[in-house]
Amino acid sequence: MSDHHVIIKDQSSGQSLELPVIRGTEGEPTLDIKSLPASLGYFTYDPGFSSTASCTSDITFIDGGQGILRYRGYPIEQLAEKSDFSEVAYLLLYGELPSVSELAAYNDEITNHTMVHEQLNTFISGFHYDAHPMAMMAGVVGSLAAFYHDKMDMDSSEHRFLSAKRMIAKMPTIAAACFRHHMGWPTAYPKNSLNFAERFLHMMFSVPTENYEIDPVAAKALDLLFILHADHEQNASTSTVRLVGSTGANPYACIAAGISALWGPAHGGANESVINMLNDIGDMSQVGKFVARAKDRDDPFRLMGFGHRVYKNFDPRASIIRVAAHEVLQALGTSDPQMDLALELERIALEDDYFIEKKLYPNVDFYSGIIYKALGIPMSMFTVMFAIARTVGWVSQWVEQSETPTRIGRPRQVYNGPSERDYVPIKSR
Ligand code: SDX
Repeated sequence: MSDHHVIIKDQSSGQSLELPVIRGTEGEPTLDIKSLPASLGYFTYDPGFSSTASCTSDITFIDGGQGILRYRGYPIEQLAEKSDFSEVAYLLLYGELPSVSELAAYNDEITNHTMVHEQLNTFISGFHYDAHPMAMMAGVVGSLAAFYHDKMDMDSSEHRFLSAKRMIAKMPTIAAACFRHHMGWPTAYPKNSLNFAERFLHMMFSVPTENYEIDPVAAKALDLLFILHADHEQNASTSTVRLVGSTGANPYACIAAGISALWGPAHGGANESVINMLNDIGDMSQVGKFVARAKDRDDPFRLMGFGHRVYKNFDPRASIIRVAAHEVLQALGTSDPQMDLALELERIALEDDYFIEKKLYPNVDFYSGIIYKALGIPMSMFTVMFAIARTVGWVSQWVEQSETPTRIGRPRQVYNGPSERDYVPIKSR
């Protein structure tokens, strides 16, 4: 919807162009530049897409200046306090909070898709025991297209939603199987009597020799982390899923691409990097040294779990996770010196002009690892946890894109290579 125009003028040609201003229901007004190449012969240059809207979406709204995050209009703080992951997943996928019967039907569907083809366990057993689980996840999820080609008519809305729910349901099963392969434990099959978080904990930690008791504190903390990581508008991995989806590729290929993008330490891999950083810092006496390194332009070191492309205020998720981390440690009767170290690091950084001027605050990855550790989840699985939750956002955004006519994503470039030249035979070089 456009309510006014911005006029740009090319000083060299004297030509001017009216660019329509698009306004969503929330957020910054946006210039529609589609007519720019044909009218004035210009492209736009925006490395990292800091100033570019790649799509329209009804799913998630972020206001980076205010530190606001809403899923389908509901503030993340309210969903974190009052909802659960299954209900949030339904909300993201379908757009509305479910009724009792809708949620029950959704949960039944997810529960009945949690198992994977037994051959997948053969695939997983082929990995080296110490393969990184994110590498395994990307490979195994991409291979699902070889197992579930029965319902992959991407023109069918029924098949699209089925593929989406299959992904949501099977990610925890595959993730736990990757972990158990590393541990040398036998497969633990999903238990339909458990909820999403409980089922994952059981698949991760149960052993055949004894009954596994679900710790309600762990299940509740996990459910909260899944809610907080579920979606985040057009972040790097979601944009990857959309770009791959725009080619018409199958949903499993799209999610496998999203998993690979998430793995990077600048993105979802940061939760693992934060703990590595805290290990390197060691104790309080070293915090100042690492903060100084983070400020040194000649030092590539960055404070992991700090900063964000959109949030120039507190990441609301980090604030919620910080409180939850305290509660989990207290409820489990444990303490973690790295929690104290993280709090001191945050305190010093937030009082430092460098971080204040650059508006660098803790992000979703800064405290999450403290909770994962307290739940006994190994560091190599931290980004896998992120991927389990973000699968809901990925498939919701993929379905949204699939439901509307979409052109293939194809950015251009500023070419700085050699101008035309003739081939020189090797004898003459
Ligand atoms: C996630 O997009 C999303 O929504 C992502 C996510 C999601 O839910 O999907 O929120 C999840 O990926 C969170 C981010 C996790 N990554 C990290 O914690 C890694 C550490 N953070 C940085 O690498 C960085 O802050 C990014 C990648 C998060 C953002 O990078 P930008 O937007 O490209 O910012 P930038 O690199 O242009 O930095 C701006 C300035 C630079 O200084 P100058 O060149 O202007 O002098 O701030 C500095 C940077 O050097 N800076 C940091 C810093 N982050 C930015 N300096 C020290 N430590 C940091 N962490």
